[in-house]
Amino acid sequence: MSELPIAKASATAPERNNVKKVSVWTLGMLLIVLAAATVFAAPPPVIRPGDPWLDNRGQQIQAHGGGILLWKGTYYWFGEDRTQSNDPEKRYVSCYSSKDLAHWKFRRQVLALSDPEHLGPHWILERPKVFHNPQTGKFVLYAHIDDGKYKFARVAVAVSDKVDGDYQYLKSYRPLEQESRDIGQFIDDDGTAYLIFESRPTKGFFIAKLSADYMSVEKTSFVQAPLEGGALVHFDGLYYVIGSHMTGWRPNPNVYATAPSISGPWTEMKDIAQPEANTYGSQSSMLVKVTGTKKTTVIYMGDIWKPKQLWDSRYFWMPLEMDGGAMHLPAPQPWSLNTKTGETALIP
Ligand code: GAL
Repeated sequence: MSELPIAKASATAPERNNVKKVSVWTLGMLLIVLAAATVFAAPPPVIRPGDPWLDNRGQQIQAHGGGILLWKGTYYWFGEDRTQSNDPEKRYVSCYSSKDLAHWKFRRQVLALSDPEHLGPHWILERPKVFHNPQTGKFVLYAHIDDGKYKFARVAVAVSDKVDGDYQYLKSYRPLEQESRDIGQFIDDDGTAYLIFESRPTKGFFIAKLSADYMSVEKTSFVQAPLEGGALVHFDGLYYVIGSHMTGWRPNPNVYATAPSISGPWTEMKDIAQPEANTYGSQSSMLVKVTGTKKTTVIYMGDIWKPKQLWDSRYFWMPLEMDGGAMHLPAPQPWSLNTKTGETALIP
């Protein structure tokens, strides 16, 4: 720009022509640059609930029953990796990273585990969640570990020094000495980490604060409702808990309750969408809170399971409508999110 001749009142006719030529040339270049920027710019961060969700390699994301960890400004998504070519003896957890929650980079399979508790060929490892312990610096992975009949009912614990490192299996245990199946993860605004776990004999689920080293838990709250897929969020002065009824892989109308404090008391359960919608075929996994400069958005993160083709199970993420103790999951529609401002827009 600085080389452009500056038109002066006293410029001669040829000088004026030159100025015109340069201006046309500049405008042309500007248009080309703008067109190129449009063509080569990263696609907008659009989330399409229910569609195949591809990673940076063009492969369907394998992070079922997953959890999200926000670590140093980057989101990490961990979940069950059900890739068809996986070794059938092993159970896998994959890790992806993203800045905008829409474009995901495959980091690696952070866990490829061979039946550590000798539970037999149908053993399961489900709903992995990774916590970062600020005191020890370790990343601690929790998952539901079980035999094929779901009788073992424990949590598995594996640790790594790196967020996407090789997680080393440490142990399994029954939190609070209770049977534990579906687990959930919650980090409060003050950084306190909680494990949510469903306990069938007590007909409800526990919210349990992780111990200082994250290797055990202590009781924080018990929600008297036989639900699984439990998830929790703190929004606008209230705690919201959601969960699904126990219908295995089949979807059902998921419900929520609120409490002024994490220890309760919890309200009655209410539907998160009209019951006929059956949670749009999905089951709750996590509530992700995006605190932006303009708005706080809570995302319902659910799974649309395909039990016969688990690798092709889909994800159902939608921003929740929340206000003064009410929570509503809208019907699926493509939407975009600005993780900086927290704003969302539905895409017609
Ligand atoms: C669901 C549970 C899944 C899986 C499935 C097996 O209820 O949420 O994680 O365990 O049952 O039937």
